Amino acid sequence: MGKKGIILSGMRPTGALHLGNYFGALENWVKLQDEYECYFFVADWHALTTGYEDTSQIKSNINDLVIDWLSAGLDPNKCIMFLQSSVRAHAELHLLFSMTTPLSWLTRCPTYKDQLTQMKDKNIATYGFLGYPCLQAADILIYKANTVPVGEDQVPHVELTREIARRFNFIYEEIFPEPQSLLTKAKVLPGLDGRKMSKSYGNTVALSDSPDEIAKKVKTMITDPARIKKDDPGNPEVCSVFAFHKVFNETTVCDIEQQCRGGCIGCVQCKKLLNEKVTAYMEPIYERRQSLVNKPEYIREVITEGNKKANEIAEKTLAEVKRAMKIDWE
Ligand code: TRP
Ligand code: SF4
Repeated sequence: MGKKGIILSGMRPTGALHLGNYFGALENWVKLQDEYECYFFVADWHALTTGYEDTSQIKSNINDLVIDWLSAGLDPNKCIMFLQSSVRAHAELHLLFSMTTPLSWLTRCPTYKDQLTQMKDKNIATYGFLGYPCLQAADILIYKANTVPVGEDQVPHVELTREIARRFNFIYEEIFPEPQSLLTKAKVLPGLDGRKMSKSYGNTVALSDSPDEIAKKVKTMITDPARIKKDDPGNPEVCSVFAFHKVFNETTVCDIEQQCRGGCIGCVQCKKLLNEKVTAYMEPIYERRQSLVNKPEYIREVITEGNKKANEIAEKTLAEVKRAMKIDWE
């Protein structure tokens, strides 16, 4: 393909993506698909590691996630999009890695310890949850990916992936690359109320929101609370509208800052300007979505095609692995 290298990344199917997710990862994926050979997958098995009790939403979430991806501009002609559970080789490689991975590597993983103490409402003291970085290593290494775009929280898993690769290469044969994390210079977008954007706070803008919904939400955004009258000097640092301007309105964000500090612009006007920028930015995303919503068979086809391509590569690597381990009896 003449591209820079092989990229792999995945998302759990946990429901509609919001702009925080978009600017944290997806926006970057869309750029990467032009430069790298890219594999992007729906991590449905990973969703089970913490959500095995209530599986009622997984199927519809898978579909919604793929629609979000396509709306955002992932292009099946440029990257391979697939479903983890449709590529069984991930599970087989996970099993083989579970043989070679020392237990202590998993128990000392920081995300394991953190989540065990945080997710008190669920019983995640399971074998599957402990082994989940091992599954993640299989996801990555089965495509011999060398670059893994992830958020900060996933860096320990990519590090563990390198250790698992190194150990395999040392015990058997040099097969795997040692992949690196690619940390996105994430644009930070707070929620409508200024806290972190999160579904559980109900302060999100969904990637699927219509122009009308966006306009409504922008009106509810929290501004500098110390500002009462329109000509009071404002402090943009504490204002979520301003944080959005920084992301959506690079051209006039400096003017807005000055006008706010000088009390020369009212918050209503400022929100109106923001709404225009956000709507313009999201218009192509919204339009692509409109062209997809009534085409479930197209969504299926994209994933079926992606599964096929992913399976081909994954089976090849698995055969190599078994040969190296001398367990290739078939
Ligand atoms: N663990 C990741 C998350 O929770 C999702 C994921 C699974 C992933 N396998 C991956 C990400 C491989 C990058 C590479 O967000
Ligand atoms: Fe925020 Fe704009 Fe109002 Fe200043 S003028 S407080 S930046 S909404």
